[in-house]
Amino acid sequence: MKDFYMPSKRTASRTMNRRTPIYEGKAKQLFEGPEPGTLIQHFKDDATAFNNAKRGVINGKGVINNRISEYIMLRLNEIGIPTHFIRTLNMREQLVKAVEIVPLEVIVRNVAAGSFSTRFGVEEGAQLPYPIIEFCLKSDKLGDPIVAPEIAIAFQWAQPNELEDITSMALRINDFLSGLFLGVGIRLVDFKVEFGRLYEGNTVQIVLADEISPDCCRLWDIKTGEKMDKDRFRRDLGKVEEAYREVAHRLGVLAGESEVIATAKAKTKAKPKTKKKSRKT
Ligand SMILES: Nc1ncnc2c1ncn2[C@@H]1O[C@H](COP(=O)(O)OP(=O)(O)OP(=O)(O)O)[C@@H](O)[C@H]1O
Ligand SMILES: [Mg+2]
Repeated sequence: MKDFYMPSKRTASRTMNRRTPIYEGKAKQLFEGPEPGTLIQHFKDDATAFNNAKRGVINGKGVINNRISEYIMLRLNEIGIPTHFIRTLNMREQLVKAVEIVPLEVIVRNVAAGSFSTRFGVEEGAQLPYPIIEFCLKSDKLGDPIVAPEIAIAFQWAQPNELEDITSMALRINDFLSGLFLGVGIRLVDFKVEFGRLYEGNTVQIVLADEISPDCCRLWDIKTGEKMDKDRFRRDLGKVEEAYREVAHRLGVLAGESEVIATAKAKTKAKPKTKKKSRKT
């Protein structure tokens, strides 16, 4: 079932243009936020892979990614990683601080997979000796090419101190998320993050932006090795929605209403335990 409604003619004029669209990406849309310096990030169900060559829809993905990303951004903030996240607005939208995106995709790899395995002829699933960071230029036109830090600095895509901040934050995020996912039986193979410059008064600070969700992580079930991320879509493995849902459930962020009611009913049905009177007396 589609989760939108058609406004009646009377209300349409009041509701249609209530927000200014800023940008429409492949997985998300950005709208102007209610206060200056804020944006609304809307998560869509659209999925793309191989630089837009493959397109599809993963039903409910936007809702799940919104919740997972919210959860992860909040936890990261608790360990001192600054993020763009302000608060969730509804099932598909969150309010974020507007930043100037550093035009680099930051990839952290713990285990060889995907393009890394192909490029270096390393078997998928081989544990890397330590986390490896790669930078790619954010350019769909050029196919997001890998860039060495020297090149990013030479072309002023990022300053040396910004790359230092990004690298140390990416490694902290990796350590934290590896543990978080391990705790729910998931191996964090690799992930991609984006950072931005947050201008506040006279200061500028690098913060984590965009999203962290199964769209931009490789997540493998510890026991079965089953893929629980966008590779299911890329490689036509099926059960894509189910995999995203399972990640959310394991993180405890998508307890559906029916499930909550079922759990509550089960609890009230169970006979209360009464202490048996001791016959010793
Ligand atoms: N806090 C933020 N402020 C400004 N821009 C942001 C912020 N967070 C994310 N973005 C940008 O918003 C867009 C989100 O849309 P989406 O992820 O669908 O883009 P995309 O199709 O992956 O394309 P691309 O990332 O190449 O622009 C991205 O361009 C991302 O860099
Ligand atoms: Mg994106």
